Amino acid sequence: MQIEQAKISDLAAIERLQDRAFSPDRDWRLSRRALRYHLKKQTPFFLLRDGDHLVGYLLLFSQKRSAVARIYMLAVDPCCRGRGLGRRLLHFAKEWAAAHAKDRLSLEVRADNHKAHTLYSRFGFKRQKLLPSFYPGGRDGWRMVMKIDKRWADEHGSLD
Ligand SMILES: CC(C)(COP(=O)(O)OP(=O)(O)OC[C@H]1O[C@@H](n2cnc3c(N)ncnc32)[C@H](O)[C@@H]1OP(=O)(O)O)[C@@H](O)C(=O)NCCC(=O)NCCS
Repeated sequence: MQIEQAKISDLAAIERLQDRAFSPDRDWRLSRRALRYHLKKQTPFFLLRDGDHLVGYLLLFSQKRSAVARIYMLAVDPCCRGRGLGRRLLHFAKEWAAAHAKDRLSLEVRADNHKAHTLYSRFGFKRQKLLPSFYPGGRDGWRMVMKIDKRWADEHGSLD
């Protein structure tokens, strides 16, 4: 398994993974236009591959001067869940944040997404703020945040 930067040529495979990963919650998916934008702009968009098979992805946002890196999208193919891949992508996000001198990772999660919530809490994220009607259909979300330990960042150096 390897994690690598997504490229524009991965667009179709990412769309297929989104369809599998977010079914039946179609309103969580990014449009082709949005995906293309992120791929072209080379935002930190990472793919987890098992050989030729795309099994997960991670999209991060972070302004250059901001101390926060935001996890915008995280998904694992239903075929491969429960094997620690979600945690592995989170670990990569933490390494990326440390390597880019960020001191926090943040994300939003739907309040009824118990699987993701458990994953994030066990990884070390804490609930920071309730976000009423943040999601389509008026569903609430939580903003969750975790600190990037400075010592951990120093030990892990740069990903570049
Ligand atoms: C949430 C998601 C990324 C988890 O991926 P995964 O590869 O199955 O997760 P892992 O195998 O790394 O699991 C890590 C932890 O998550 C939690 N978790 C995973 N599956 C779970 C389940 N079915 N029920 C409860 N907790 C679960 C557990 O805490 C687990 O730790 P453990 O193995 O020590 O019990 C995956 O289910 C997914 O892609 N869901 C659809 C997209 C989504 O909801 N993304 C998040 C949007 S904010």
